[in-house]
Amino acid sequence: MSSFFQNKGITYTRSAKVSTSSLPWIEKYRPRSLDNISAQEETLITLRSSKDNLPHMLFYGPPGTGKTSTILALSRELFGPELMKTRVLELNASHERGIDVIRERVKNYARSFIINDINKKGPGFKIIILDEADSLTKDAQEALRRTMEKYSELTRFCLICNQVSCIIPALKSRCTLFRFKNIGTENMRNRLAYICEQEGISYYQETLDELIKGSQGDLRKAITWLNNASKLHINDKVTVETIKETAGIVPDDVINGLIESAASKSYDKIQETVSDVIASGYFAKQIIEQVFFQVLKDLRFNEKHKFNIGERLGIIDKRLADGACELFQVLSLMCTISENMD
Ligand SMILES: Nc1ncnc2c1ncn2[C@@H]1O[C@H](COP(=O)(O)OP(=O)(O)OP(=O)(O)O)[C@@H](O)[C@H]1O
Ligand SMILES: [Mg+2]
Repeated sequence: MSSFFQNKGITYTRSAKVSTSSLPWIEKYRPRSLDNISAQEETLITLRSSKDNLPHMLFYGPPGTGKTSTILALSRELFGPELMKTRVLELNASHERGIDVIRERVKNYARSFIINDINKKGPGFKIIILDEADSLTKDAQEALRRTMEKYSELTRFCLICNQVSCIIPALKSRCTLFRFKNIGTENMRNRLAYICEQEGISYYQETLDELIKGSQGDLRKAITWLNNASKLHINDKVTVETIKETAGIVPDDVINGLIESAASKSYDKIQETVSDVIASGYFAKQIIEQVFFQVLKDLRFNEKHKFNIGERLGIIDKRLADGACELFQVLSLMCTISENMD
């Protein structure tokens, strides 16, 4: 069976022959062993001590904190790079989220016996990694419950998700839960500086500050932005401006302009400003996040105002995730802000 991995919609072949220089940096610098995973000490201690008899696992926590990297590193340590190709099945549940995949592909793999290789290497079980398991349908999760139980002698599951609340209790109770926490500013800075050093990239300290602030603890995001920005600075230092530009971060004066339009209490002014900002191509999700952080720092908003705005933001975020019109959702937030402003 060929081994593959998928990363946010892109499929790469996992092959020793792929030149590392052609890989995106998040793959090139993905930790190869558990020793290279930062900031998840408790998780690593438990995993190292259960290597001989792994439980079913549920990894959860914010994006870009090392969940996928950890299970891949653990698999590599358990099986080695060759055996891993046949002993580990990695599925991205957001692409294969229905009950059919669980009933057929996962079940068939889970119940298949291990064909002992000549040297009988590795532990006596296989691993199925279900990445982004929070997008599995409820039916698929129900079906998985039985498969997990029935074939646990042969196969250990590692479910990975951001939102643990989307996993049904029956699955949670069959797994050991591992919480991945935010990596922290210093660990992020060290990792980004290390990559710059390896790639021969020069940068300003403020550039790393911007990467850390803008990515909000998501190391994958920060590395991707750095990777993109570096292509525009072959012979000079990577600047804050390039990071903002390549990451789609909205400039501070645009965010301030939105808040001042709300302060004007004029609906026409708000609509005109929001339309201009959306027409400039910024993403609504990015705009509303940055507006909200600005509101939190602005003394014109009291606690009650912030409660109201925060509550509205939750609704808007859900609507955007469901595909609602970006213009109307930003407009809706700015109107709420205007109503909740002294
Ligand atoms: N704890 C960590 N230690 C070292 N590098 C990390 C860590 N977390 C993330 N990274 C870096 O970020 C990249 C993405 O990490 P990974 O795919 O493991 O995140 P994730 O938690 O699975 O995120 P998501 O929830 O979005 O899938 C890795 O290639 C690695 O370079
Ligand atoms: Mg992941």
